[in-house]
Amino acid sequence: MESLLRSCKAHYLGSVIYDMGLTSVQDLAMCEPSDLEEDLGISQDVAATLIDKAREMSLFETRKAAVQKTWKICQSTFAESATQLFYQHLFQEYPELQTLFISTDMEAQANKLYATVGLILRYLNEVESLIPTLEELGVRHALVWKCGWEYYEIFGECLLQTLESILGFETWTEEVQDAWTWVYNTVAKIMAQAGDAALLERRKCAVIESWTMVQEALDVQAMQMFYHHLFEEFPEVKPLFKRTDMEAQARKLYKTVSLAVEFLDDMEALTPKLQELGARHKIEWHCESEHYSAIGDCLLWTIKTGLGEEAWTEELEDAWCWVYSYIALTMSEAGEQAIAKKKQPVKKRKGAMMRMMHRMSRFRPKTGFE
Ligand code: HEM
Ligand code: HEM
Repeated sequence: MESLLRSCKAHYLGSVIYDMGLTSVQDLAMCEPSDLEEDLGISQDVAATLIDKAREMSLFETRKAAVQKTWKICQSTFAESATQLFYQHLFQEYPELQTLFISTDMEAQANKLYATVGLILRYLNEVESLIPTLEELGVRHALVWKCGWEYYEIFGECLLQTLESILGFETWTEEVQDAWTWVYNTVAKIMAQAGDAALLERRKCAVIESWTMVQEALDVQAMQMFYHHLFEEFPEVKPLFKRTDMEAQARKLYKTVSLAVEFLDDMEALTPKLQELGARHKIEWHCESEHYSAIGDCLLWTIKTGLGEEAWTEELEDAWCWVYSYIALTMSEAGEQAIAKKKQPVKKRKGAMMRMMHRMSRFRPKTGFE
C-alpha cells in the first residue's frame, strides 16, 4: 500500500486510508473512485489514479502468484522434461520449424529454455533488471536464427498448450491461462522488439553500404543498365516510356533511390513525396501493381550486378526487398487511392487493393515496417 501511495504521490493519505479499513492494495482495487472522492475529500482525478494503480498492482500480484504456483507444479512433476515436451509439441504442430534447430542439441536446448523460464519467473518483481538479458537474447534470435514475430506467436501458442497438458484442465483455469499469456507476451515483446531494432539497423547499414558501392562503381549508369534490363525482361512496359527521354529518366530514378537511401532513418519524411509520385504513376502513366514487381526485380538485379554476384548475399537481398517494399507499397497504394477517388465504387476499389497486395507479396517485409 505504501509503495502504491508513493508512486501516486499520495503518501499523505496513508493514515486516512487505513482508518477507512482499506489495508491492502486489493481492498483499494475493489473501490470505486466516487467512494474515495467522498470519504477522503480528494479530487476525481486523484481517486481514479489511485484506483487504477491499485487494480494494476493487484492484477500483477494475482498473475505472478498464478504463474509461480503452476510453474512449481511443472518443476516438481516434470522438471526439464516440461520443456522437452514443449519442443516435441512444437515440432509436431509446426514441423517446418525443425530446420531452425537442425544442428541443435535439443536436450541442452530444453534445459536452457527451462532455466530461462525459471529465471524470468524468479525476477518478475524486478522485470526491468531482466530487460538487457532478454533484449540480447531477442537480438540473437532475430539476427542469428531469423526469428520474427510470427514465430513468437507459434512458440507462445505451443508453450501454453504444453503447460495446459501438463497441469490438467482443473489447474489450467482462465486465471492461470491469462497469467501465462501475460508473462509470455511481455517477454516475447521485449525480445521481438529488440530483434526488430537490430534487424532494422543491420538492413540500413547493408543498404547504405551497398548503394554507396554501386554509386562509386557505376554512378547514374546503374539506372541506364536498369532500364535496359527492364525493357529486355519486361518488354510490355516499354510503351509506357515511348515519349520519355531515357537519359533524363535514369537520372531521376537514380536521384530518387539515392534520396530514399539517404532518408532510411526517417522514411516517413519521404512518404508524402512517394505518395504524390505514386498517384502520378497511376493517373498519368497508368502503372499497375504488377509493374512494381517488375521494377523491384530489376532494381535488385541492378544492385546485384553493380556489386558483383559474389558480394550479393541473402541478407542484402532481404535488406533491399525491405526498402523497396516500403517505397513500392507506399506509391502503389497512393496510386490505387488516387484512381479510386477519381472514379471507382468502393467494392471494386477494395478488390483492386487486394489484388495489388497479393501481387506485391514478394516485396512485403517479414518484419520491420508495420
Ligand atoms: C520468449 C520466447 C523465447 C525464449 C525465452 C527463448 C529462449 C531461448 C534460449 C535461452 C536459447 C539459448 C540461447 C543460447 O544458447 O545462448 C534459445 C535458442 C534458440 N531459440 Fe529461442 N526462445 C524463445 C523464442 C524462440 C522462437 C520464437 C524461436 C523460433 C521458432 C526460437 C528459436 C531458437 C533457436 C533456433 C535457438 C538456437 C538453438 C541453437 O543453439 O542451435 N526461440 N532460445
Ligand atoms: C517504386 C518504384 C519507382 C520509383 C522510385 C519511380 C520513380 C520515378 C521518377 C522519379 C519519375 C520521374 C517523375 C517526374 O518526371 O517528375 C518516374 C517517372 C516514370 N515512371 Fe517511375 N518509378 C517507380 C516505379 C515505376 C513503375 C512500376 C513504372 C511502370 C512500369 C514506372 C514508370 C514510369 C513512367 C512511365 C514515368 C514517366 C516517364 C516520363 O516522364 O515520360 N515507374 N518514375
